[in-house]
Amino acid sequence: MRIVVSDDPDSAVHQAADIVERFVSTSESRALGLATGRTMEGLFAGLVNRHRQGLSFRAVDAYLLDEYVGLDRCDPNVYRSVVHRLLARHVDLDDGSLHGPDPRASDTDAECARYEREVRDASIGLQILGIGSNGHIAFNEPGTPFDSVTRVVELSEQTRSDNARFFAAGHSVPAQAMTQGIATILAASELLLVAVGAGKASAVARAVEGPITDAVPASAIRMHSNVTVVLDPPAAQGLE
Ligand code: GLP
Repeated sequence: MRIVVSDDPDSAVHQAADIVERFVSTSESRALGLATGRTMEGLFAGLVNRHRQGLSFRAVDAYLLDEYVGLDRCDPNVYRSVVHRLLARHVDLDDGSLHGPDPRASDTDAECARYEREVRDASIGLQILGIGSNGHIAFNEPGTPFDSVTRVVELSEQTRSDNARFFAAGHSVPAQAMTQGIATILAASELLLVAVGAGKASAVARAVEGPITDAVPASAIRMHSNVTVVLDPPAAQGLE
């Protein structure tokens, strides 16, 4: 595992964007796994800048890690809309090349099984990850078995409270989501985890230096042979 501690959040995002740019412009695989969340907003902005300097996403197929259950398809918090708004519509990534679970699927279990097959068939080349303050990756909450695949999950109170900042007053964070499992994520050829800010320090320290345990879902990335973790100094402050 490579750990990069950048000078500040902007540099962390810049270094993460370098890794994504290298993948998009040189890799044989064109299947890129995208995360969402505040950390990713900076990374997406960096990728949009690189597109303006010539980086093309035309050949890329992008796959979402997870999606809320039950939001209207036009809800701004639907992760597909988030990625469209912050990345896809500013670059040459077609809507048809953006893949994810359908938040309005009537049979969510069937939708998860369909998406698991889609992601496995695609063979993700580079999977970008954030980390939740409780150590989650995608929406795999503490206690998730490492052999888990795409499925419906109940969100923890911690995650719902962390993500409430994205929802307008009077709109609550859904109780459920569809998420790629830990095994699905680990099947990608390469992982890139990005974390900035002191709020992530404890989760990062437990993931990177604590026991590899399902109590800390992000610790599973240490079972992968090709992982880069990019941090800013506050997110790295708990590391030995
Ligand atoms: C959500 C996403 C995760 C992401 C996490 C951290 O819960 N499902 O994939 O890693 O948020 O996001 P933020 O960068 O906003 O802290």
